[in-house]
Amino acid sequence: MRPIGIEALAVHVPRHYLDLGSLARANGVDPGKYYFGLGCRRMAVPAPDEDPVVLAAQAASALFERYDIDPACVGMVVVGTESAVDCAKPIATYVHRMAGLPPDCRTFDVQHACYGGTAALRIAAGWVASGLRPGRKALVVASDIARYDVGSPGEPTQGAAAVAMLIGDEPRILRLEPHAEAVHTEEVMDFWRPHYRATALTDGHHSVDCYLRALEQCWRQFTAVSPIRFADFDFLLYHSPFPKMAFKAHKRLHEVAADPETFADEAERDFERRVLPTLWSNTEVGNAYSASLYVSLAGLLEHAELDAAGARVGLFSYGSGCCAEFIAARLGDTPAVWKDRTGLRELLAGRRELTHDAYLRFRQAHEELARDGSFRAPLAPSGVAFCGTWNHQRVYRDASWPAAAAITRGGDAYPASDVARLAEHRSRLRIGD
Ligand code: CAA
Repeated sequence: MRPIGIEALAVHVPRHYLDLGSLARANGVDPGKYYFGLGCRRMAVPAPDEDPVVLAAQAASALFERYDIDPACVGMVVVGTESAVDCAKPIATYVHRMAGLPPDCRTFDVQHACYGGTAALRIAAGWVASGLRPGRKALVVASDIARYDVGSPGEPTQGAAAVAMLIGDEPRILRLEPHAEAVHTEEVMDFWRPHYRATALTDGHHSVDCYLRALEQCWRQFTAVSPIRFADFDFLLYHSPFPKMAFKAHKRLHEVAADPETFADEAERDFERRVLPTLWSNTEVGNAYSASLYVSLAGLLEHAELDAAGARVGLFSYGSGCCAEFIAARLGDTPAVWKDRTGLRELLAGRRELTHDAYLRFRQAHEELARDGSFRAPLAPSGVAFCGTWNHQRVYRDASWPAAAAITRGGDAYPASDVARLAEHRSRLRIGD
């Protein structure tokens, strides 16, 4: 069987964050609950000009630039997302144009709450393995903005990120171990977002139970089809809606899976050794739904002190609703392939902290920009940016367009007169950052 997996991986995170201490003070909650009870530290907050399309397109462009990859090698683009911006038009089509991909390319989005990124990865890996397009690779992007209502229990677990991955048969970053699938589906109402809502609804404690039940089921299936045992994994990556969830998951797997002689009373120490090194980036970004598991992977790859080369990793993906999967994989042998290339460290170091008031203003601006007729000049001086909605179409500034026609709708440049009309809306929606 040919090796299949991740050849290149790049991350994009919003330019601003909110410290959970500020949120706790505003909500009248002891900060210890957010910092230690949930394990959260900061959450990424998208600026008005950053939406899931922008995050996905930036991650995809970074992938090609940072690894010096010719976009012409791509034959399929699959975006996994919970935060679709349209009921019909996929984010994958925007990414396809903005990243300059070839036209003989299949593009589509997949949706299954936080499982979408893994579903996309599995579809892409299966397509590469089929050998239908020799030499072509698949671009998978997991992109999400996690939003709950202000003051709701989910609010401190918000966040946002996109992770772009090139899937092919030269998996220098992560090789999927060949084994039969370990998946679990069960129809549950633990987290959902009706079409008319911009924020998710959740039965939070029920969702934690559903997650842990699905983990157990996947693990049982995995051990039935694979000779790999719990102790054989060097690192375990769990979908992290909030870092404490990964601790709960590891503890549960310990109870179910550990050889008592090897791991007796060691769950906490074992968590620190095999799970904690994968979570530092999640504590910075917050929940990024379909991208969360791959933010953990990027965190492991870019860990400052660890050399994870050749490590065997277990990845647990959970999407509410629910579908879950446990995957075994091996990291490549050459850290130089990925170290300082995912973009994670640079982007996190360059972020700006928001006040709680600015965080609320950003949220309000996002709501306004989703309404038809709204327009706002991007805060970012360059790069892909979301400007608003006009004639029921989302409008993006695309860096590849000349300045005079830098506002685009679909693949067409706006005539200068339209740009002027759009610009009329600026003052009405202007907010400071
Ligand atoms: N100091 C330290 N710890 C404190 C504390 C304090 N002052 N006050 C409370 N805590 C602890 C609690 O003891 C508790 O710890 P344990 O879980 O270990 O018992 C923890 O902080 C959380 O406290 P609560 O259970 O009282 O918190 P809550 O009811 O306000 O909400 C939540 C917790 C249900 C997870 C909520 O954040 C939520 O609804 N989140 C969104 C849903 C979610 O993320 N679900 C996860 C599984 S579903 C999934 O994975 C998909 C996805 O991405 C959404």
